[in-house]
Amino acid sequence: MCGIVGYIGKKPALPVLLSGLKRLEYRGYDSYGFCILEKKKDVFLYKKKGKISELQEDFSNIKGQIGIAHTRWATTGAVSEQNTHPHFDCHKNIFLVHNGIIENYQELKEQLIKEGHQFTSETDTEVLAHLIEKYFDDNLEEAVRQALKEVRGTYGIAVISKKDPEKIVAAKLGSPLILGINDNEFLVASDPAAIISSTRQIITLDDNEIAVLSPDKFFILKEKPIEKIEWDIEDAQKQGFSHFMLKEIFEEPEAIKKSIVGRMILEQGLAKLGGLDEVSERLKKIEKVVIIACGTASYAGKVGEYMFEEYAKIPTKLEIASEFRYKNSILDDKTAVLAISQSGETIDTLEAIKEAKRKGCLTLGLVNTVGSSIARETDAGVYCRVGQEIAVASTKAFISQLSILALITVFLGRQRGMSLTTGKRILQELEKLPDLARKILNKSDDIKDLAKKYSEYRNFFFLARKYNFPIAQEGAIKLKEIAWKIHAEGYPGGEIKHGPIALIDENFPTVVICPSDSVYDKMKNALEEIKARKGKILAVITQGNDEIKNLADDVIYIPKTLEMLTPILTTIPLHLFAAYLGLELGLDIDKPRNLAKSVTVE
Ligand code: F6R
Repeated sequence: MCGIVGYIGKKPALPVLLSGLKRLEYRGYDSYGFCILEKKKDVFLYKKKGKISELQEDFSNIKGQIGIAHTRWATTGAVSEQNTHPHFDCHKNIFLVHNGIIENYQELKEQLIKEGHQFTSETDTEVLAHLIEKYFDDNLEEAVRQALKEVRGTYGIAVISKKDPEKIVAAKLGSPLILGINDNEFLVASDPAAIISSTRQIITLDDNEIAVLSPDKFFILKEKPIEKIEWDIEDAQKQGFSHFMLKEIFEEPEAIKKSIVGRMILEQGLAKLGGLDEVSERLKKIEKVVIIACGTASYAGKVGEYMFEEYAKIPTKLEIASEFRYKNSILDDKTAVLAISQSGETIDTLEAIKEAKRKGCLTLGLVNTVGSSIARETDAGVYCRVGQEIAVASTKAFISQLSILALITVFLGRQRGMSLTTGKRILQELEKLPDLARKILNKSDDIKDLAKKYSEYRNFFFLARKYNFPIAQEGAIKLKEIAWKIHAEGYPGGEIKHGPIALIDENFPTVVICPSDSVYDKMKNALEEIKARKGKILAVITQGNDEIKNLADDVIYIPKTLEMLTPILTTIPLHLFAAYLGLELGLDIDKPRNLAKSVTVE
């Protein structure tokens, strides 16, 4: 998520904007920019790559009292000054900052170019500036209103114009936007953290609302109550959550949505992945996929292996990147190597890509951080676009990786004889997941109680089969890093009887992931084997299953979905379980000991 701040009032705008941008920087943005309307309709526009905290320049001569500012975390278009906001129209009359994704920007851009508009960036945002220009007739809010009618996607925007200079127009759909209210000054921001040092009086804009701020008044299409911010700055950055990890887990439904929005053509059962289009012909000839990743990302990759083989009918293997690099795998130009990484900087994964390239493979990336080393090193790829993760443990990015792997399955599958019906079915079920994920999070208090109940144990098994086996590994890695006083292992359900069952007794609980799927009966056998050895069982099962309730000590329900998509739902309670258990043990769940967010050493 990018950050927006706007100011209109009686003071120089720039210091207020810069302080707001600094308050947002904790999220780790890659570039920033601002635009100030000076007297006599001059505009001061500034854009820079890097961190705002490193800004040295003296701007004391910039006195304009109206301005907008933005910190960018690249999604569409690389990290560059051209792609940094504010964006502007052909004649530099209209300036705009945006948070969100304009899904239909390509078609709008093509049309606007035909109409003679000239673009200077690769972003989706720039189409908004040109669309507003198209409808501008001396009234900025009217032009914004007209322009937004043509837009599909999400936005929180703040717009100013040299030709209608006494106002900021703000509008929102799907992305957060608030107004800050003070005596003779008004602010607009994507996040209360950006304005909390100016005012605590805010109005939260609702979707499809447009606000017009002038130096002495503001106006929204309907009357809205003024609320008071009761948090301090750090709380504001965590948006009311005690920890970033919890905030990021609660963003998981949104992460699914952001990963799939604009990437599905439902009626044709097709996945529309712009980043793979340019290698689409080569992908048709690929005979084998190797997925490379580390840690949590490798568990996403393992789910991908199962998805690709079952639905896209393409031989696929997950390889731990640090192993792949040294084991001299048999690869050629008919192999696609797909690297999965949240940070895009993991050295083992990066070096493995280089090795694959040396062997002539097509290299693809599934990365969250735009412009990162892995994104640049791979031939093509897909971005997660779920915003920066602050907590060390990867949560919302993992959920996004799984969602996008399902899209890539459809992309590859439809190239290889997957039927229209199957393609459609996967996409339709995928589309329902954000709501189903929310239902799980609505029961977070139950999971907190379970974490308390199980906090006395120091060893855990996580067991599952097929699609959920990697989720057993994910549940276990989260527990050992976040609640590191506990040891946990994730095993395939069928393997426990080949050794590990010797460990089971009343002091060694097992989390059994057992949705109603094609391996349900087999998992039930494993569950009974544990029960017979007096092992405690916490089962993650599908809503409506009354059978396991009697075998397990405790249950967590997930809503019903397609088998290949169950990992996306079963993961969510396990992320919460680890976070709450860590808190129960008095640990800092955002910064587990001995770990770093991106692992750039071998
Ligand atoms: C676990 C975790 C790590 C990372 C791994 C790879 O919660 O976050 O296991 O998944 O270090 O990192 P990326 O995805 O940045 O390549």
